[in-house]
Amino acid sequence: MTDHLPFSKIPYGGDWNPEQWERPVWDEDVNLFEQAGIDLLSVNIFAWTALQPAEDTYEFARLDEVLALLESRGMRACLGTSTAAIPAWMATQYPDVMRVDEQGRQHRFGGRHNACPNSPAYRRLAPALAGQLARRYAGRDVVALWHVSNEFGGACYCPHCERAFRVWLRERYGTLAALNHAWNAAFWSQTITAWEEIVAPNELSVQGGERTTAVQGLTLDYQRFMSDALLGAYRLEADAIRAEIPNAVITTNLMGTYRPLDYRAWALHLDVIAWDSYPSPQDTPAAVAMRHTLMRSLKGGQPFMLMEQTPSQQNWQAYNALKRPGVMRLQSWQAVAHGADAVMFFQMRRSVGACEKFHGAVMEHHGRTDTRVFREVAQLGAELKALEDVTLGARTPARVAVWFDWPAWWAVENSSGPTAALHYLKEVTALYAAFHAQGYAVDLVGPDSDLDGYGVVASTLLYLLPAGAAQKITAFVEGGGVFLGGLMTGVADESDRVFPGGPPGPLRDLLGVWVEEVDALPPGEMNELVMQGDLSGTFGCTLLFEQLRVEDAEVLATYGQDFYAGTPVLTRRRAGKGQAWKLGSSVDAAGLRVLTRALCDEAGVSPLVPDLPDGVEVTRREGEGGSFLFLLNHTPEERQVVVPGLRGRDLLSGEAMGESVALPPRGVRLVREEVGA
Ligand code: GLA
Ligand code: ZN
Repeated sequence: MTDHLPFSKIPYGGDWNPEQWERPVWDEDVNLFEQAGIDLLSVNIFAWTALQPAEDTYEFARLDEVLALLESRGMRACLGTSTAAIPAWMATQYPDVMRVDEQGRQHRFGGRHNACPNSPAYRRLAPALAGQLARRYAGRDVVALWHVSNEFGGACYCPHCERAFRVWLRERYGTLAALNHAWNAAFWSQTITAWEEIVAPNELSVQGGERTTAVQGLTLDYQRFMSDALLGAYRLEADAIRAEIPNAVITTNLMGTYRPLDYRAWALHLDVIAWDSYPSPQDTPAAVAMRHTLMRSLKGGQPFMLMEQTPSQQNWQAYNALKRPGVMRLQSWQAVAHGADAVMFFQMRRSVGACEKFHGAVMEHHGRTDTRVFREVAQLGAELKALEDVTLGARTPARVAVWFDWPAWWAVENSSGPTAALHYLKEVTALYAAFHAQGYAVDLVGPDSDLDGYGVVASTLLYLLPAGAAQKITAFVEGGGVFLGGLMTGVADESDRVFPGGPPGPLRDLLGVWVEEVDALPPGEMNELVMQGDLSGTFGCTLLFEQLRVEDAEVLATYGQDFYAGTPVLTRRRAGKGQAWKLGSSVDAAGLRVLTRALCDEAGVSPLVPDLPDGVEVTRREGEGGSFLFLLNHTPEERQVVVPGLRGRDLLSGEAMGESVALPPRGVRLVREEVGA
């Protein structure tokens, strides 16, 4: 395992598909890479058939040539294993390699991300190819790192998976009695009397389409199992590479807040986190920031790679708006600001045919460089080159943590009721955004994270509490931390069995409240959260309205309306050296800002910059090269930011910086702070 990427500057580049082009185009491409400061190319991402035209034939001549060309220009490769799209011969020879979907349909050849992770043919042939590649290119400096498959995802419900699921369950539960208990299988006579009776939960069994299942415990376990199964496929390939190259840096491209995969479990097996950022034009900068933060947090703050982003537009949104001038640069620096040590694109040159021919690229089909996109790419390339290695490896310390847990996400959205309008990401993003807007540095944590060092741990929809989580949170509070339990805290255990005694389950003593009932009203129907005492203001709240019964806590806010007007919606209990707050509704952005500021004030946590103007983002990275303050203006207007005590130099413009920093529209300042300033 490596902690550092093998680079002496922020690597810059992206997916390059020479297999789609003739040799003269490759030569033209590398010249253009040079012009744009591009030095790292993800190659061999989708070339399985070319590398292995038949089961017993491998052909590496073209890849040899590609790597030699990069080497001759001093460029390096992020070398794909090419296993995300299987060859046609494989699907023909081994039809069971193709997935069975949620509707129970066995797929035929075509597309990508379509192999069953448990099919024997895939589990044999994918690592075999990875091993061949590793043997051939071991010791070659041109291969900077290994890129296994591509964007693992989806699910399969075939007989292989069903059998593997039974084995997985047997390991998890040991006995059928334990399994039936976990699933509360006596409900609707779902009791399993032999392991062979267990079926994959697709739409032919318990699933009724997305977010509807008759047996939540079963569906939740299948989600865990499928995340593990795909991780298992990744690991087979990684092991095959590692067997040839013990010190290889191996990764795959993750997808941020991608629901089906529990990336926390994945992170343990990746040498470096790499991810693909494709914000929609409607995404707020805070939503994008949260995804970067999540990816950084997976390996305890280790810098990550921005493996893909589009230089201009996507093709798969309904309406593929161009990134406005300056936005690609801004979003690239935003990634670096949150801990990225690589900036990469999909794709280098647009394909001439098939479904990505309208996806943005560094080079259009025509290959011209007198374009807005190429100029912007080259400008960023020059900036990254000029920066050299100073920020590489720098950490992004934070004293605020927001809870983010895949099984909680799955469980809360598997549940039928209390409302169909409940979206885990929306609620967690709103909480994150409240801290972010006020300039706090934030991490995202989960049940296995170390909470030491945080002043605030804030959560919403901490619905599912695995064993040990409540004790960890209680110890955090008693040691002086400030904890917020938001909506639906502590409802169920890790099998989605409701805690006897009701929510907040094992956090009831800590929070000093219990939840008697939960009102769920249609979207748009609001109540009010009326702050009391030190906190002031009245804010809108919506979605769910928990009826909190106070056992041992102060009431900090009450509902303003309805039959529960005047009853508590926000409480606080002091415990040990810290505090445990409980919030019972989904509060508007203004209310969340007041609440999150109060949590930080109580914990003695300050924002990086006080009074941050709207639309401006701030982060700080600290490392051997110094301390770096990033200020990013996400608006199309100029902004002025006051940073008390700031002295330093903006490494992008070379200008000296004092307390008052002018940010051009969509502008970025990367200020190396002077020591002792
Ligand atoms: C993903 C994939 C790429 C490409 C892009 C298009 O990130 O990894 O192969 O399809 O999407 O946006
Ligand atoms: Zn399968």
